[in-house]
Amino acid sequence: MSLILGISAFYHDSAVALLRDGEIVAAAQEERFSRRKHDEGFPHGALEYCLKAAGCSGRDIEYVGFYEKPLAKFDRLFRTYLAFAPRGYESLRKAVPQWLETKLRVPRALDRGLGGAYRGRYAFADHHESHAASAFYPSPFDEAAILTLDGVGEWSTASLGVGRGHKIELTHELRFPHSLGLLYSAFTYYTGFKVNSAEYKVMGLAPYGEPRFLKPILEHLLDLRDDGSFRMDMSYFNYCQGLTMTSEKFHQLFGGPPRDPEAALTQREMDLAASIQAATDEIMLRCGRHVQQKTGMRKLAISGGVGLNCVSTGRLLREGPFDDVWVQPASGDAGGALGMALLVWHQLLENPREAQAGDAQQGSLLGPEFSDAEIRAFLDSVGAPYRSLSAPELCDAVAKHLAAGEVIGWFQGRMEFGPRALGCRSILGDARDPEMQSRMNRKTKYREGFRPFAPAVLEERCAEYFGHDRPSPYMTFVVPVSDAQLRPLSADERKIAGLDRLQVQRSSIPAVTHVDGSARIQTVGENANPRFRELLRAFHRLTACPVLINTSFNVRGEPIVCTPQDAYACFLRTDIDRLVMGSFVLDRRAKRAVELGVRQTLEQDWGALGLEGLRGPHALDD
Ligand SMILES: [Fe+2]
Repeated sequence: MSLILGISAFYHDSAVALLRDGEIVAAAQEERFSRRKHDEGFPHGALEYCLKAAGCSGRDIEYVGFYEKPLAKFDRLFRTYLAFAPRGYESLRKAVPQWLETKLRVPRALDRGLGGAYRGRYAFADHHESHAASAFYPSPFDEAAILTLDGVGEWSTASLGVGRGHKIELTHELRFPHSLGLLYSAFTYYTGFKVNSAEYKVMGLAPYGEPRFLKPILEHLLDLRDDGSFRMDMSYFNYCQGLTMTSEKFHQLFGGPPRDPEAALTQREMDLAASIQAATDEIMLRCGRHVQQKTGMRKLAISGGVGLNCVSTGRLLREGPFDDVWVQPASGDAGGALGMALLVWHQLLENPREAQAGDAQQGSLLGPEFSDAEIRAFLDSVGAPYRSLSAPELCDAVAKHLAAGEVIGWFQGRMEFGPRALGCRSILGDARDPEMQSRMNRKTKYREGFRPFAPAVLEERCAEYFGHDRPSPYMTFVVPVSDAQLRPLSADERKIAGLDRLQVQRSSIPAVTHVDGSARIQTVGENANPRFRELLRAFHRLTACPVLINTSFNVRGEPIVCTPQDAYACFLRTDIDRLVMGSFVLDRRAKRAVELGVRQTLEQDWGALGLEGLRGPHALDD
């Protein structure tokens, strides 16, 4: 038996993946355990979980692979400094201590992290090789073109090549500082959002705007070629030498300083978002056409952080030259851990590979799970009142609550690997309800009202609701809502601009229809997640609608919940109506029980002080 660990760490989105004889046993991102979003530290929690899932210890591991080459990365950092010296001194001064302490001593840090149990050697791959491996090896393709796009690894910011059988070969690359990921992040920064974290908010904002800045982007910022490669005019950017993304010249070109993160969003930010999104679509389409011509392949596998831009991947699927496209669901650096482990197994150890029908990603349900006995023990330990239901009863009951307009916290089975909740750590709602998007945004997730929710749909019903006719189990493509579901808009409705467009009901499933009539779909088929599928079937039987809102089970700024404790705490803090964990259902009485417990404690304290307590007008009223 061969056990292989892949690790990504020390930049952002640390993660661990574990293979047993080439098969993925477990993969998880550290933030879910440490509860620190994008945690970049050594992934102790994820490692402990993966070893436990395989029933082994560090001593049993045959190979450990690290997802990038720290020395090459440091070389890039130092050379960039020299090229701009002395201007980059401040950012270098800030970076060097961490490099000396950890990043240049990765084997030592890994030894320590593995508790000294691992006796073997460490394998290192290029950052983009890890991304490429995570794209191709789990894909359903025997052979495929490969495209990776992100901010930056060592020097590469994009690469393309081909995968055949168990071998991948990257043949072309784009090098730092020219980077589609960093270009997108520059606009993320400029529109007042958090870099390396909130790029998807820019993508969500884009449909509210007009791409009126596309021309200056293509004329001034980029020299874009037919093959999708480009050079950036670095005088508009500041990320090589400074602590910000954009320069004064950039601000002048686009007519002002970056938006203060606390300031209101205006039409200008929406137009900027629309413009950078249009540029990204164009670059991805050109890259796609080029890699198809170079390789002659009919299939494409994508990874790297820009691969999470599901608007661009959706367009590449529909308008590009490929018959099929597969996007690694953990396309960010967390997925590098999985890619690295697969790279060791196939590329280094020469183990053959047979593409699997569907794919080898197992629905990306690769994280921890909790048995009913464990969930019950937890609920009893906190004194939460609950009902226990059999499997068929459970789905019928939850479907009824959803149809009645409730928001449900849905905690089942193994946690997802990748940034999307796919029906195991999800908050669910009725997609037909026109009020549901703003209600869930404001009251449940405490996030910006403009952000769209995604639909989960029964796979066999997908084409009735969306312009898409194949499995899309990972929410990696934005597709059009079908004409049959769209509602014609009145002349007045068409005149509405900006965020007010959110108020216009565009389809029979308004809560998941974006203002441009699109949706980021998850199709739910037979295999990966039977209980979630059964819930969708129960909802369909009851309402004739096979679609539910599926959003991640977390509140703004926090990682998705991992354990029953996390889910319960999130339930108590939000306006979620009901929490369903395994076979157990908790309603608002559970929240009242907690409130009552707090009140009783307060009353005892106040009683000890000889005070009246919290009776009368303070009594809980719902
Ligand atoms: Fe990356």
